[in-house]
Order: sequence, then C-alpha cells, then structure tokens
Amino acid sequence: MKQRKTDHLELALLSQTGIQSKDRRFIYEPMFCTHPVGEDAAFPFMGKTMRLPIWISSMTGGTEYAGHINRNLAKACREFGMGMGLGSCRAILEDDTYFDQFNIRQYIGADQPLYANLGISQVEIALKNKDLGPILRMVERLDADGLFIHVNPLQEWLQPEGDVIERPPIETIQEFLERTRIPLAVKEVGQGFGYQSLKALLKMPLEAVEFAAFGGTNFAKIELERSEPVRKKLLEPLALLGNDAYEMLTWANELYDSGEVNCKYLIISGGVKSYLDGYYLVEKSKMPAAYGMASPFLQHARVDYEMLQEFVSYQANGYRVAKNYLRLNPDFLPD
Ligand SMILES: Cc1cc2nc3c(=O)[nH]c(=O)nc-3n(C[C@H](O)[C@H](O)[C@H](O)COP(=O)(O)O)c2cc1C
Repeated sequence: MKQRKTDHLELALLSQTGIQSKDRRFIYEPMFCTHPVGEDAAFPFMGKTMRLPIWISSMTGGTEYAGHINRNLAKACREFGMGMGLGSCRAILEDDTYFDQFNIRQYIGADQPLYANLGISQVEIALKNKDLGPILRMVERLDADGLFIHVNPLQEWLQPEGDVIERPPIETIQEFLERTRIPLAVKEVGQGFGYQSLKALLKMPLEAVEFAAFGGTNFAKIELERSEPVRKKLLEPLALLGNDAYEMLTWANELYDSGEVNCKYLIISGGVKSYLDGYYLVEKSKMPAAYGMASPFLQHARVDYEMLQEFVSYQANGYRVAKNYLRLNPDFLPD
C-alpha cells in the first residue's frame, strides 16, 4: 500500500493529459452501471449467434501458415463469441490441396457464424459458364453459413496479373441471388463503397454488407508495392481513392431512415483499430451491426493462440467497459 501511494505521487506528475487529448466521440457516464462481469449475452447475427459484436474479416488462405492462422482465429471466435469470414476460397474451388486450411468449422463450433469467400470475378465466370455447382459444393463442404463475395475492381486493375471484370458487379450479384439460396454477403477489400453502390447493395436481400472501407489495409496499395517502379509511381494516386467507415455509416443510416434497406446486417470495417473505434461505429449504426478487423487480428494470430487470446481478451474487455460507461457525444464531428 505504502509503495503504491509513493508510485502514485511520482506517476501523477508524469500523467497530466490536458484537454486536447480527450476522446471527443464519447460522453463518460460513470453512475449507472456496474463493472462488466459475467457472461456476455448472446444475440443473433448472420444466421448464428455471437456474444461480442466483433467480426474477423476475411484473410487469404492458400499460403504456408494459413491453416495455422485460420485455426487460431476460429478458436478465438468460439471462446469469445465472435464471427468470422474466411479469406478467398478460390484455391479450393477446383482442387482439394488446400482444403484443410479452410476447413475450420470444428474449431469455430456450431454456434458462431462462418462465411466462405470468393471474388466477384470467380462468381462472374461461374455464372457465365452456367456452372454454380463448384461454388455451392464448396460452401456446403466447409459447413459455412453463407458466402461473401468481395468486389475489388480497383485492386484487380492495379494487380499486374489481376482479373478483368467484364460485367457490372451489381448484375452479377443480382443474378447470383436469383439463382441460389445461399445467404449472401458482399464486401470490398479496403476502398469501401460510394453512396450509390451502398444504396444498390443495401436494397438487395443480402445477409450483410461489409464496408471494408478506406483507412486501414489498402489492397490497391499492396498491389502497387508489387509493381515495378514506373508503374507504381504512375498508378499510385488511384490507391488513395475510397470511402471511409464514418462516411459510409452516415450514408447507411440515411438509407435505413428512407426505408430502402432489405439487407439484414452491417459489418463496419476498414481501419477499425480498437474497441473504442468499433464501439463508436456500432453504436452509431441504425442497422444491427458488428465491427470487423482484419490486419489487427492477423498480427497476433500468426504467432500462437496464447498471443491471439491475450489480444482478443483486451479487445473484449475494452468493448465491455465502453458499453457500460460511454455514450455517444451527439455534437462530435470527425476532422
Ligand atoms: C492479409 C490479408 C488478406 C486478405 N485477404 C482477403 C480475401 O481473401 N478476401 C477478402 O474479401 N478480403 C481480404 N482482405 C481484406 C480484409 O477482409 C479487410 O476488408 C481489409 O483488410 C480492411 O480491414 P483492416 O483495415 O482491418 O485490415 C485481406 C486482408 C488482409 C490484411
């Protein structure tokens, strides 16, 4: 006790904040809640249940460590009550070599939502060939609750060996919805969707739209890093285009108010770095929403489960504290 008091005296001098560093997104209300203890309540999300509104966004398989990473992520979903999207399953569409890397239902458990993932190009080609069989079989074999289609024209354009998108993605998705009964979700990969794209998507009977907004991992930029210097320099401005999560959420709320939304859930992702970002965005959403993160999970899942578990535990506890003591500041506007 004596040591603690001595520490306080010394540390108090080093712990002056000033009002500039205050997080202006929130109003702190300490009077009405206990500390968060006990189990998180389950709520329905994308066909299953979750206990935290945190989604692990799709990350690629088909590489040496992908199986290890996917199994760690799936175990964390089960332990903490989160949902997860697999990375692009293109590698297992026609060939079983990498199937085990993606086959994680036994690790995530029966209750958590798990979605398969394909690029818009693969779906476009399957529809053109009138052969949806491999896609449907893949979703079934993975015991996935549905399929994410990622729509990434900017990434494909900037990728030296990228696919060419020959049909407007909205038509491909419309036709896929008409021809199948798989619960379908649509996402970008880091540039987000503009107002009109979001409006068209939210009107559809989709299970979810994931923003994958500008502000975090930027796949257009990743592809340019893989290009030779002249190409990189000339195409670089294209990688800085996109829509951020805050502006997309403002549009989604507007569309929801106008009564034009048939999509069930939102996953708000792209540059969400912490439980406070996530809590803020989910609370602000008028649609049932979770927040998604990709790269922050990847960093920890690569090493071992204990490291991931520690990271998720801090995320979960931070979110619980935010939920009990923070309310949104109605006057806040981002810079
Ligand atoms: C290593 C890595 C691989 C990814 N692979 C895929 C993929 O296969 N399919 C997909 O839809 N998105 C993929 N993404 C994009 C993420 O799902 C997410 O939309 C994007 O990274 C933005 O989230 P973040 O800012 O939290 O990283 C990948 C992201 C990372 C970091």
